[in-house]
Amino acid sequence: MAFVGRSNVGKSALINALVGRKAIARTSKSPGKTRDCNVFDVGHKLYLVDLPGYGYARVSKGERRRFGRLIEQYVARREEAVGIVWLLDIRHAPSAEDHHMAQLLAARKMPIIIALTKADKVSATQRADRVAAIVGAFDLPADQAIVTSAATGLGIDDLRESVLAAAEN
Ligand code: GTP
Ligand code: MG
Repeated sequence: MAFVGRSNVGKSALINALVGRKAIARTSKSPGKTRDCNVFDVGHKLYLVDLPGYGYARVSKGERRRFGRLIEQYVARREEAVGIVWLLDIRHAPSAEDHHMAQLLAARKMPIIIALTKADKVSATQRADRVAAIVGAFDLPADQAIVTSAATGLGIDDLRESVLAAAEN
């Protein structure tokens, strides 16, 4: 199961929250932290794949190309992938790169789980509006998105259930 999303969206933090460990995947305040494909073995049954983020301007052109290839390899080709967790920051309107990712994901017939991240950064009353705005931008059903926070644990059990269900099929 591969985790994709723009740089700094919280991929590494979400993997840590899912496996219940603080520092299995390295996180950072500054974008561009994850620079390679890091694979975490969950009981020899499921592998969580932490990928570099897309959309961060301050890495070299060559690195950006390499990140792009790593990401696309999982999203567009990798046969062993059982699904993709696509992360979008609940606070932000989707970027051009997010729309590009939506097209790649749509072309691939496999389960896509959408995790809206950093929900602790918006008030509970704003959340429904943010969910509607983001899923509306992609023409997705609202119930396909799981509202999460790696900081508070919100939605982590739901997400884990969806990941395990996708992996079993
Ligand atoms: P790259 O590896 O650079 O692509 O980033 P990433 O998507 O792996 O993001 P990472 O998990 O490193 O998190 C980026 C920053 O956001 C870190 O400072 C995290 O502590 C913070 N962060 C991640 N998830 C949450 C969350 O749910 N709530 C809050 N408040 N902060 C979060
Ligand atoms: Mg990371």
